Amino acid sequence: MIKKGIILAGGTGSRMSPLTKAVNKQLLPIYDKPLIFYPLSVLMLSGIKDILIIVNKGQLNQFRKILPNGKNLGIKISYAEQNKPRGLPDAFIVGKKFIGKDNVALILGDNFFYGESLTKKLKKCIKLNKGAKVILHWVNNPSSYGVAKVNNKNKIIKIIEKPKNYFSNLAVTGLYFFDNNVINYCNKLKPSKRNEIEIVDLLNKYRKKNKLSAELLGRGGAWLDTGSIKDFYNASAFVSALEKRQGLKIACLEEIAFNNKWIKKNNLIDAINFYGKCDYSHYLKELIKKY
Ligand code: G1P
Repeated sequence: MIKKGIILAGGTGSRMSPLTKAVNKQLLPIYDKPLIFYPLSVLMLSGIKDILIIVNKGQLNQFRKILPNGKNLGIKISYAEQNKPRGLPDAFIVGKKFIGKDNVALILGDNFFYGESLTKKLKKCIKLNKGAKVILHWVNNPSSYGVAKVNNKNKIIKIIEKPKNYFSNLAVTGLYFFDNNVINYCNKLKPSKRNEIEIVDLLNKYRKKNKLSAELLGRGGAWLDTGSIKDFYNASAFVSALEKRQGLKIACLEEIAFNNKWIKKNNLIDAINFYGKCDYSHYLKELIKKY
């Protein structure tokens, strides 16, 4: 069972400069809320309450202003700083103390997930005891990502980072579930040509032991990239269209916490006071009226 999760929200966001010169990319808006709300909502939907957010050195205060210690959401949020981006598996080196002897989930701070069966799948993934699991999604441009091939038992038989030659449309999304061996394996990783430790090398250590499995998001689900400004606009348009049509918000953290029975009505009132007069608070007010 996985009870701990890490959000890797470091990185320079250089592709989005000058927007990211003073502000961390994960604090920029996807429609009506900061990007970080979306990956955090994914961990919360899975049932994970103990969360470490890894940020760049010097950015702690920016994050604490909007996500203090998690108490307001009935969860525990702690922070760690990364001196410089050293590759995704560095999350497990920086987060070693946080992980301790437990299993852990990792989500990249810029990954957006949505879908009817998402919560069900997440709840299945956190049942992991041994090995590792990745979430795969069918994309048009697999060579921009880690790419995987699976057998009929959803075991991964091949996985390559940004392959030049096509072998599958299944991209490895930025949501991973690991047993505690992840710490040992990370210590053994050697930097690649670009002088970073690579997530695919880590996943391959599990694959070679036949311990890497996959969960497919399915075509009814959405996994969106937020690497560029255009991606931000596309993801914002997606959220805006759905929220407008349904009158339901995607990644409203307080709503998820309330539905999970982690917080009470008075916490919703506190949140309304914290956010002030805005559309998000109005939504929370309506939520209180419904119950
Ligand atoms: C990273 C991983 C890649 C994965 C992607 C998901 O790529 O290296 O395997 O598919 O995240 O967002 P990057 O965004 O660093 O190019």
